[in-house]
Amino acid sequence: MPTHPTRQSVPEGDDLFGIYRNMVLYDFQKEFHSGFFVSYYRNFTIPSTAKVLAERGEMQHRPMKRSYDTAIVIHEIITGGFDSERGQAMIELLRRVHKGVPGTSEDFMYVLMTLLVLPLRWIEKHGWRKLTSLEEQAAVAFYAELGRRMGLADAAPETLEEAGRFLDEYEDRKLAPSPEGAMLLDSTVEAIKIRLPKPLQPMTLRVLALMMDKPQVTTALGLKRSPRWLQVIFNAVVRCRAIRARMQPLPTNPAFVPGKIAVSVYPGGYTLDQIGPKAS
Ligand code: HEM
Repeated sequence: MPTHPTRQSVPEGDDLFGIYRNMVLYDFQKEFHSGFFVSYYRNFTIPSTAKVLAERGEMQHRPMKRSYDTAIVIHEIITGGFDSERGQAMIELLRRVHKGVPGTSEDFMYVLMTLLVLPLRWIEKHGWRKLTSLEEQAAVAFYAELGRRMGLADAAPETLEEAGRFLDEYEDRKLAPSPEGAMLLDSTVEAIKIRLPKPLQPMTLRVLALMMDKPQVTTALGLKRSPRWLQVIFNAVVRCRAIRARMQPLPTNPAFVPGKIAVSVYPGGYTLDQIGPKAS
């Protein structure tokens, strides 16, 4: 249940993981949906990571399953918590799928920080209200713990500012188009399409470019940069949505219910043993 009942109140207390859960499941559900979407495609913009992902083949051969599974793993941990049985099963899966994956500890930290920083930047820019510093702290604490549980070699940044600096600095050095990144994007376009509102589906690549927060990301994805007038219209539409949200009650249905997501890949919901690549 939401920790606070109205749009006039904000979360309090010291249950940081609970506060983050509340942000994702209730208070900023639309914003996180878009923000995680932006994070997912970031992996294609780092040539070395794109190469690893392309070589494994999951994203090309099962793009829908791969993208839903990624969302499910993260949301299961957020919803159930690190110590729940389901949360632990998902951490176990994360440790298993990344065993032997070539990548420096910096590469791993970067992927983790995309999940922290990009949805929060989306909220900062497009959200129905700004985050409180307690909410920012809650998100930082969640990903620091996720990194620890995954066994990452380095500790995650301790503040959002530091996390943002790390992400930007890494991207300044590494963002670039690559044949593997282009191939991954190509196979994933179908998965993107189906998540967009129907009228936007024919313009999938255009919308994807509009959603990206940096022009270098659009270029690294091999997408055409949007003309300025279109970006202005897009931002205005998202702003209207935020203004409308401000006038409506907070959602009381969570954005995610474990096992229940009904999507083409799991029409009747899923069990945890269906999640993740087949063990080889
Ligand atoms: C801490 C940072 C990271 C997080 C939170 C993360 C998250 C995830 C998640 C949720 C999955 C499960 C998807 C599924 O079940 O199909 C996954 C799978 C995978 N990840 Fe990561 N990832 C991280 C870093 C990386 C990095 C840096 C690389 C590559 C250099 C990578 C490569 C893979 C591969 C190869 C898989 C297996 C599925 C496939 O072959 O596509 N991950 N990751």
